[in-house]
Amino acid sequence: MHALSGKEFYYIRRYCMFITFEGLDFSGKSTQAKMLHEYLLSIGVKCLLLREPGGTKISEKVREIILDRKHIEMTPLTEFMLFSASRSQLVSQVVKPHIRKGYVVICDRYYDSSTAYQSYGGSLELKDVQKVNEIATGGLKPDLTILIDLTPKAAFSRAHKRASAKDRMEIKNLAFYNRVYKGFKDIANRNKKRFVVIKGSLTIEEIGLAIRKTVNKKLNISNE
Ligand code: TYD
Repeated sequence: MHALSGKEFYYIRRYCMFITFEGLDFSGKSTQAKMLHEYLLSIGVKCLLLREPGGTKISEKVREIILDRKHIEMTPLTEFMLFSASRSQLVSQVVKPHIRKGYVVICDRYYDSSTAYQSYGGSLELKDVQKVNEIATGGLKPDLTILIDLTPKAAFSRAHKRASAKDRMEIKNLAFYNRVYKGFKDIANRNKKRFVVIKGSLTIEEIGLAIRKTVNKKLNISNE
Protein backbone atom coordinates (compact mmCIF):
# COMPACT_ATOMS: atom_id res chain seq x y z
CA MET A 1 0.00 0.00 0.00
CA HIS A 2 1.18 3.52 -0.75
CA ALA A 3 2.44 5.48 2.26
CA LEU A 4 0.17 8.41 1.47
CA SER A 5 -3.57 8.32 2.06
CA GLY A 6 -5.83 8.37 -1.00
CA LYS A 7 -6.47 12.10 -0.95
CA GLU A 8 -2.85 13.10 -0.37
CA PHE A 9 -1.72 10.75 -3.09
CA TYR A 10 -3.86 12.60 -5.58
CA TYR A 11 -2.61 16.03 -4.52
CA ILE A 12 -0.54 16.16 -7.65
CA ARG A 13 -1.23 19.73 -8.59
CA ARG A 14 0.59 22.42 -6.72
CA TYR A 15 -0.25 26.05 -7.16
CA CYS A 16 0.53 29.00 -4.95
CA MET A 17 -2.55 31.11 -4.93
CA PHE A 18 -4.56 33.15 -2.49
CA ILE A 19 -8.27 33.54 -3.25
CA THR A 20 -10.64 35.57 -1.11
CA PHE A 21 -14.45 35.80 -1.09
CA GLU A 22 -16.23 39.00 -0.21
CA GLY A 23 -19.80 40.23 -0.06
CA LEU A 24 -22.59 41.25 2.29
CA ASP A 25 -23.94 38.89 4.93
CA PHE A 26 -26.31 36.44 3.19
CA SER A 27 -24.71 37.02 -0.20
CA GLY A 28 -23.98 33.28 -0.38
CA LYS A 29 -20.20 33.66 -0.40
CA SER A 30 -19.58 31.05 2.30
CA THR A 31 -21.49 28.42 0.29
CA GLN A 32 -19.49 29.34 -2.81
CA ALA A 33 -16.16 29.27 -0.94
CA LYS A 34 -17.00 25.73 0.25
CA MET A 35 -18.05 24.64 -3.24
CA LEU A 36 -14.83 25.95 -4.77
CA HIS A 37 -12.79 24.20 -2.08
CA GLU A 38 -14.56 20.88 -2.76
CA TYR A 39 -14.15 21.30 -6.51
CA LEU A 40 -10.41 21.99 -6.29
CA LEU A 41 -9.87 19.02 -3.96
CA SER A 42 -11.85 16.82 -6.36
CA ILE A 43 -9.47 17.61 -9.21
CA GLY A 44 -6.38 17.03 -7.08
CA VAL A 45 -5.43 20.58 -6.15
CA LYS A 46 -3.86 21.10 -2.72
CA CYS A 47 -6.29 23.50 -1.21
CA LEU A 48 -7.19 24.99 2.17
CA LEU A 49 -10.43 26.75 3.18
CA LEU A 50 -10.37 29.38 5.94
CA ARG A 51 -12.80 31.90 7.34
CA GLU A 52 -12.41 35.32 8.87
CA PRO A 53 -12.49 36.19 11.66
CA GLY A 54 -11.11 32.82 12.75
CA GLY A 55 -9.01 30.00 11.37
CA THR A 56 -6.56 29.61 14.26
CA LYS A 57 -7.11 28.89 17.96
CA ILE A 58 -6.28 32.49 18.85
CA SER A 59 -8.29 33.96 15.96
CA GLU A 60 -11.37 31.88 16.89
CA LYS A 61 -11.16 33.25 20.45
CA VAL A 62 -10.95 36.78 19.06
CA ARG A 63 -13.96 35.96 16.85
CA GLU A 64 -15.99 35.05 19.95
CA ILE A 65 -15.13 38.41 21.52
CA ILE A 66 -16.03 40.37 18.39
CA LEU A 67 -19.30 38.63 17.62
CA ASP A 68 -20.55 38.41 21.21
CA ARG A 69 -23.69 40.55 21.24
CA LYS A 70 -23.23 41.25 24.93
CA HIS A 71 -20.23 43.42 24.07
CA ILE A 72 -22.32 46.46 23.18
CA GLU A 73 -19.74 48.85 24.66
CA MET A 74 -17.07 47.84 22.11
CA THR A 75 -15.80 50.87 20.23
CA PRO A 76 -15.45 50.78 16.43
CA LEU A 77 -11.68 51.11 16.77
CA THR A 78 -11.43 48.21 19.23
CA GLU A 79 -13.57 46.11 16.92
CA PHE A 80 -11.32 46.91 13.96
CA MET A 81 -8.16 46.19 15.95
CA LEU A 82 -9.59 42.81 16.96
CA PHE A 83 -10.44 41.92 13.36
CA SER A 84 -6.90 42.93 12.44
CA ALA A 85 -5.33 40.94 15.29
CA SER A 86 -7.29 37.86 14.25
CA ARG A 87 -6.21 38.39 10.63
CA SER A 88 -2.58 38.93 11.52
CA GLN A 89 -2.42 35.64 13.41
CA LEU A 90 -4.17 33.79 10.59
CA VAL A 91 -1.87 35.16 7.91
CA SER A 92 1.35 34.38 9.82
CA GLN A 93 0.34 31.04 11.24
CA VAL A 94 -1.65 29.54 8.38
CA VAL A 95 -2.01 31.49 5.13
CA LYS A 96 1.62 32.28 4.35
CA PRO A 97 3.04 28.85 5.31
CA HIS A 98 0.42 27.08 3.17
CA ILE A 99 0.98 29.31 0.15
CA ARG A 100 4.70 28.56 0.49
CA LYS A 101 3.91 24.82 0.52
CA GLY A 102 2.05 25.11 -2.78
CA TYR A 103 -1.54 25.30 -1.58
CA VAL A 104 -4.39 27.25 -3.03
CA VAL A 105 -5.64 29.10 0.06
CA ILE A 106 -9.29 30.21 -0.01
CA CYS A 107 -10.40 32.69 2.61
CA ASP A 108 -14.03 33.54 3.35
CA ARG A 109 -13.54 37.32 3.95
CA TYR A 110 -10.25 39.19 4.24
CA TYR A 111 -9.11 42.78 4.63
CA ASP A 112 -11.58 44.13 2.06
CA SER A 113 -14.28 43.30 4.64
CA SER A 114 -12.59 45.62 7.13
CA THR A 115 -12.38 48.37 4.54
CA ALA A 116 -16.04 47.93 3.59
CA TYR A 117 -17.54 47.32 7.06
CA GLN A 118 -15.30 49.33 9.40
CA SER A 119 -14.52 52.26 7.12
CA TYR A 120 -17.37 52.69 4.61
CA GLY A 121 -19.98 51.17 6.92
CA GLY A 122 -18.52 52.47 10.17
CA SER A 123 -16.74 55.60 11.13
CA LEU A 124 -13.06 54.85 10.63
CA GLU A 125 -10.84 56.78 8.23
CA LEU A 126 -10.21 54.90 5.02
CA LYS A 127 -6.47 55.66 5.09
CA ASP A 128 -6.11 54.38 8.66
CA VAL A 129 -7.94 51.17 7.85
CA GLN A 130 -5.85 50.59 4.74
CA LYS A 131 -2.65 51.19 6.69
CA VAL A 132 -3.56 48.74 9.46
CA ASN A 133 -4.73 46.20 6.86
CA GLU A 134 -1.28 46.40 5.30
CA ILE A 135 0.50 46.05 8.65
CA ALA A 136 -1.68 43.15 9.87
CA THR A 137 -1.12 41.12 6.71
CA GLY A 138 2.49 42.09 6.02
CA GLY A 139 1.16 43.31 2.67
CA LEU A 140 -0.16 39.90 1.59
CA LYS A 141 -2.58 40.73 -1.21
CA PRO A 142 -5.03 38.18 -2.65
CA ASP A 143 -4.31 36.99 -6.20
CA LEU A 144 -8.04 36.85 -6.82
CA THR A 145 -11.00 38.28 -4.95
CA ILE A 146 -14.50 37.09 -5.79
CA LEU A 147 -17.17 39.59 -4.84
CA ILE A 148 -20.66 38.15 -4.68
CA ASP A 149 -22.69 41.19 -5.55
CA LEU A 150 -26.01 40.96 -3.72
CA THR A 151 -27.78 44.24 -3.03
CA PRO A 152 -28.54 45.19 0.60
CA LYS A 153 -32.27 44.95 -0.11
CA ALA A 154 -31.94 41.41 -1.44
CA ALA A 155 -29.67 40.48 1.48
CA PHE A 156 -32.25 41.80 3.93
CA SER A 157 -35.04 39.89 2.30
CA ARG A 158 -32.96 36.68 2.54
CA ALA A 159 -32.22 37.44 6.19
CA HIS A 160 -35.90 37.78 6.99
CA LYS A 161 -36.71 34.48 5.30
CA ARG A 162 -34.28 32.66 7.59
CA ALA A 163 -35.65 32.86 11.11
CA SER A 164 -32.41 31.74 12.78
CA ALA A 165 -30.43 34.44 11.03
CA LYS A 166 -32.86 37.28 11.74
CA ASP A 167 -31.19 38.82 14.76
CA ARG A 168 -27.74 39.23 13.30
CA MET A 169 -28.99 41.34 10.41
CA GLU A 170 -31.19 43.34 12.73
CA ILE A 171 -28.19 44.56 14.72
CA LYS A 172 -27.22 46.96 11.91
CA ASN A 173 -29.71 48.80 9.77
CA LEU A 174 -30.21 48.98 6.03
CA ALA A 175 -28.34 52.31 5.77
CA PHE A 176 -25.25 50.61 7.22
CA TYR A 177 -25.42 47.81 4.67
CA ASN A 178 -25.94 50.32 1.86
CA ARG A 179 -22.65 51.97 2.85
CA VAL A 180 -20.87 48.61 3.11
CA TYR A 181 -22.22 47.66 -0.31
CA LYS A 182 -20.95 50.90 -1.83
CA GLY A 183 -17.62 50.16 -0.14
CA PHE A 184 -17.28 46.77 -1.82
CA LYS A 185 -18.17 48.28 -5.20
CA ASP A 186 -15.59 51.07 -4.79
CA ILE A 187 -12.86 48.63 -3.71
CA ALA A 188 -13.64 46.37 -6.70
CA ASN A 189 -13.49 49.35 -9.06
CA ARG A 190 -10.14 50.43 -7.69
CA ASN A 191 -8.70 46.89 -7.95
CA LYS A 192 -10.07 45.68 -11.26
CA LYS A 193 -7.21 43.25 -11.91
CA ARG A 194 -7.74 41.44 -8.62
CA PHE A 195 -11.56 41.44 -8.47
CA VAL A 196 -14.16 39.37 -10.25
CA VAL A 197 -17.70 40.53 -9.49
CA ILE A 198 -20.50 37.97 -9.80
CA LYS A 199 -24.21 38.72 -9.50
CA GLY A 200 -25.52 37.27 -6.25
CA SER A 201 -29.04 37.02 -7.71
CA LEU A 202 -27.97 34.14 -9.99
CA THR A 203 -28.60 30.56 -8.84
CA ILE A 204 -26.06 28.77 -6.64
CA GLU A 205 -25.10 26.58 -9.62
CA GLU A 206 -24.67 29.53 -12.00
CA ILE A 207 -22.46 31.38 -9.52
CA GLY A 208 -20.47 28.21 -8.85
CA LEU A 209 -19.88 27.67 -12.54
CA ALA A 210 -18.75 31.27 -13.08
CA ILE A 211 -16.31 30.93 -10.17
CA ARG A 212 -14.91 27.62 -11.41
CA LYS A 213 -14.36 29.08 -14.87
CA THR A 214 -12.53 32.09 -13.42
CA VAL A 215 -10.34 29.97 -11.16
CA ASN A 216 -9.61 27.38 -13.85
CA LYS A 217 -8.44 30.17 -16.13
CA LYS A 218 -6.21 31.64 -13.43
CA LEU A 219 -4.71 28.24 -12.63
CA ASN A 220 -4.44 27.23 -16.28
CA ILE A 221 -6.73 24.25 -15.80
CA SER A 222 -8.97 23.25 -18.69
CA ASN A 223 -12.62 23.28 -17.57
CA GLU A 224 -13.39 19.94 -15.91
P1 TYD B 1 -19.89 35.75 10.05
O1 TYD B 1 -20.82 34.97 10.90
O2 TYD B 1 -18.61 35.13 9.65
O3 TYD B 1 -20.66 36.25 8.76
P2 TYD B 1 -20.54 35.73 7.28
O4 TYD B 1 -20.57 34.23 7.34
O5 TYD B 1 -21.71 36.33 6.59
O6 TYD B 1 -19.23 36.25 6.74
O7 TYD B 1 -19.62 37.10 10.81
C1 TYD B 1 -18.70 37.96 10.38
C2 TYD B 1 -19.27 39.32 10.51
O8 TYD B 1 -18.18 40.19 10.74
C3 TYD B 1 -19.96 39.78 9.24
O9 TYD B 1 -21.12 40.51 9.56
C4 TYD B 1 -18.98 40.73 8.62
C5 TYD B 1 -18.18 41.23 9.78
N1 TYD B 1 -16.77 41.58 9.46
C6 TYD B 1 -16.35 42.89 9.59
O10 TYD B 1 -17.17 43.76 9.95
N2 TYD B 1 -15.05 43.20 9.34
C7 TYD B 1 -14.13 42.27 8.97
O11 TYD B 1 -12.93 42.59 8.75
C8 TYD B 1 -14.56 40.91 8.85
C9 TYD B 1 -13.60 39.84 8.45
C10 TYD B 1 -15.90 40.61 9.11
